[in-house]
Amino acid sequence: MCGIVGYVGKRPVVDLLLKGLGQLEYRGYDSTGIAVERSGEKKIEILKSEGKLENVARLAKELDQAAKGATCGMGHTRWATHGKPTTQNAHPHRTGHVVLVHNGIIENYAEIKREMASKGYHPVSETDSELFGFLVLEEMKAGKKLRPAVTASFRRITGSCSVVVMSDLEPGTVVGIRNGTPMVAATDPKGGGILASDAQPLLDLTKDVIFLEDGVGVEITEAGLKFFEFANDAEVRPATTHLDWNAENMEKGGYPTFMRKEIFEQPTAIVDTLNATLDRAKTEAFPLAKHRASDLLLAAEEIVFVACGTSWHAALLGKYWIEKYARIPVAVELASEFRYRDPVLKPKTLVIGITQSGETADTLAVLKDMKKRGVPTAAITNVRGSSISREADGTFFTAAGPEVGVASTKAFMAQLVTLLCFAGARSKVGPQAAGIDPKVSKKLFEHTLALPHAIQTFLGDEQGLAKQVKAIAKALDDAKGFFFIGRGYSFPMALEGALKLKELAYVYAEGYAAGELKHGPIAMIEEGMVVVVLAPKDSWRDKTVSNLEEVKARGAKIVSVGEAGDTHLRSLSDHWIPLPHLEDEALLPFAMAPVVQLLSYEIALLKGTNIDKPRNLAKSVTVE
Ligand code: F6R
Repeated sequence: MCGIVGYVGKRPVVDLLLKGLGQLEYRGYDSTGIAVERSGEKKIEILKSEGKLENVARLAKELDQAAKGATCGMGHTRWATHGKPTTQNAHPHRTGHVVLVHNGIIENYAEIKREMASKGYHPVSETDSELFGFLVLEEMKAGKKLRPAVTASFRRITGSCSVVVMSDLEPGTVVGIRNGTPMVAATDPKGGGILASDAQPLLDLTKDVIFLEDGVGVEITEAGLKFFEFANDAEVRPATTHLDWNAENMEKGGYPTFMRKEIFEQPTAIVDTLNATLDRAKTEAFPLAKHRASDLLLAAEEIVFVACGTSWHAALLGKYWIEKYARIPVAVELASEFRYRDPVLKPKTLVIGITQSGETADTLAVLKDMKKRGVPTAAITNVRGSSISREADGTFFTAAGPEVGVASTKAFMAQLVTLLCFAGARSKVGPQAAGIDPKVSKKLFEHTLALPHAIQTFLGDEQGLAKQVKAIAKALDDAKGFFFIGRGYSFPMALEGALKLKELAYVYAEGYAAGELKHGPIAMIEEGMVVVVLAPKDSWRDKTVSNLEEVKARGAKIVSVGEAGDTHLRSLSDHWIPLPHLEDEALLPFAMAPVVQLLSYEIALLKGTNIDKPRNLAKSVTVE
């Protein structure tokens, strides 16, 4: 789960690599490094350091002219899996004249280590990555050029990973291979080309990019890009994708953090995802845009969602909506559990992987396994060209735009929009549809179209909801711990609120179905604990309010989130966050999401944590 960028061309590479790595830091950020080919010399210079990119940027200022003039190089931002996050373990790694960066895991590293030791190679780092350099060195010693040496070495390793390799002996060449972790490449219109772990670093140069398939590599020289299969060295011509992402999207747009910007972008994410999911030329309720994935969804008799983390919370809401409106059975599974079970699936079950990044290892593994078993699969993802979109039989793309903050906000919101559209669309087809009143989904559709405006008004600007939540966060600064509770649609939101608070502020937080409190966790409630009660005016409100009274009686401080006119709820609460009136209770999660996101955000701000890059986390979790 690291970030890689490589470039050969006419542009000064040091700045290009540093900028590109900055855009990839979300993938991991415990050490960083760059390797640049000194201009006019057959020599690659490496700068690396533990900690953030700024450490390497500082070192880069001291480079001499020959290194500053480099136009060929590569960089890496690391999320440690093998070996501690130290400078020695940071990439790039040098072995003789070979220099490499690596993302992923070499599973047979112990065996390769033994073999290489018998040939006199001893790694200086604790990484599995460095061993790959020994293999390449050996192949080149035997007379191979860089590219065939890299492919031959890649055939020796097992595990899912990408590598990018350079050599002092082959100036002006960068060779990358993708097998299981993402890689995107593009031709630089000024000459040469670029590769990276995602498309963002490419966008300054071009919007026409190539998402490499697993098993495919790219050789970049000033003459351009050559693609090949590592299994047999055969050249291939992969398709080009034109991206409509704007490089400006990547900037913070005046907000102090990406996460804050992304929270405020949620109304736009809702609009864009509705437009992406539905055929907006049609006037009927929830007209799904026609493609392979929508055909699969409409034909399914049962649905199994698999996902992790926040995407799993979205899946839970999807279940509630689809079961209510479409009356077809839905199961929600944690990908990391499901992949190691031997599940029983009925015929005509569609397995749908939900993953904003499209790269989550466990979710991807489930889809691969289902494919082997002949089970139809679909994906919901925010990233075009991502691994899951190539693995699934069909894909629904959410349109949240690039999400840089590690904690998912607008991508989560976009997942909810897609899932709600599933419920509406499925209510009209299939044998069960005969028993469903079409007026219900028509009404839901009208209310859904009004949702972006309602959420925009609710979020307002910094003086609105955000200001109110900030004041509450201040009053909770000394809390011992937090419970988030809710029933019905508020239950997945309670889970999401607790997850956000844990990951952003590093404070103890639990999300619970309110009805479960008395089955154990209520023993934790005492003075100093805060209970965030999600009790909007819906079918479950009264029951949740009874649970509120139980925890209040035991000394907990109450923050409640409910409908603006709910004076009774307000009177029971120490702090109170009113929700807007939405015409349909099914839509309330769209209003609760920014509340729990901002609450966690503000508490994290008071704790002084790194909000965009919480410790120990990464944006795409490509290891299990
Ligand atoms: C939390 C968060 C994570 C992700 C999880 C799955 O804010 O972002 O819990 O939801 O790692 O990631 P994706 O959706 O990329 O599969």
